Amino acid sequence: MSIEFDDNFSDRIVTSSQMPQDESEPTLRPQTMAEYIGQTKAKENLSVFIEAAKRRGEPLDHVLLYGPPGLGKTTLAGIIANEMGVNIRVTSGPAIEKAGDLAALLTNLSENDILFIDEIHRLNRSVEEILYPAMEDYALDIILGKGPSARSIRLDLPKFTLIGATTRAGQMTSPLRDRFGVMLRLELYSPEELQTIVTRSAEILNVQADRAGTYEIARRSRGTPRIANRMLRRVRDFAQVQFNGVITKEAADTALRALEVDELGLDSIDRRMLRSIITTFGGGPVGLETLAATIGEEAVTLEDVYEPYLMQIGFLNRTPRGRCVTALAYDHLDIQPNMPSTPEQLQLGD
Ligand code: ADE
Repeated sequence: MSIEFDDNFSDRIVTSSQMPQDESEPTLRPQTMAEYIGQTKAKENLSVFIEAAKRRGEPLDHVLLYGPPGLGKTTLAGIIANEMGVNIRVTSGPAIEKAGDLAALLTNLSENDILFIDEIHRLNRSVEEILYPAMEDYALDIILGKGPSARSIRLDLPKFTLIGATTRAGQMTSPLRDRFGVMLRLELYSPEELQTIVTRSAEILNVQADRAGTYEIARRSRGTPRIANRMLRRVRDFAQVQFNGVITKEAADTALRALEVDELGLDSIDRRMLRSIITTFGGGPVGLETLAATIGEEAVTLEDVYEPYLMQIGFLNRTPRGRCVTALAYDHLDIQPNMPSTPEQLQLGD
């Protein structure tokens, strides 16, 4: 299993990318569809496809899971394997460097197994081309020799299911995207769903938590279970040291304040991004690349990690001419729209 860690995010509690301290996460991972909370539409559809494939004795059709990071794509792939009663091999786009690496993975699968490729949009082209006949015909085309005498032979592969996961379905080539029979978009979770997840995780971690405490974590974790579970661990530390071991609203609030996560789950980088659009670009519109350069982050990071939640809570709009902040964001940062912003105001909240 190969997971890449991005150092950019290493000190950010609200990052939704996977970090080394999440390695114990699998203990919190649900194993069955019944334990998996939220994503009702995706779950209902998948359950039908799984049942049908099992009755026919066939592998499940290839599945593409897409949506913001941290929503449980890998978890869901594991659950699909469990429910199908098959093995799963886990890898990622950047980990498969050469066509031969993928050929080796494919030839080692057993009938009906699942191959899970995370960040599938980052596969390189020569590797991707191996996947086309593999997905369509369960076959591997191998070129022997070079030049005019080159020949191609076809090897049969076991029937398998490819599950691809990506934060950016739009960046995949259409030949690859078109070969997935099932495409499921995962959505950000509601605070109530996250509260159920946090309550379940607290039980698994054997830490006491009251309803107001779990709700406070849930509503400040930007719709993302990975963030909620990470916050839970940090809040547990504060609860144990300062609040008699119980996660209350006060314990959660104290911990999250100390971590500079505000009332809505925004951290200093979110606030810097919004403030930069307001002060440097008059509230927008500003192009993504320009904004990224101004605040020193990568454009793809802004787009995948920061923007989905800011848009969901109505703080940011994507328009054809660029990003614009809304009146709600001005309000949250306590900046008056259309008024010269004072340096003191602009420092607020950080
Ligand atoms: N952990 C991560 N995602 C989850 C989900 N959807 N349900 C329960 N636990 C989770």
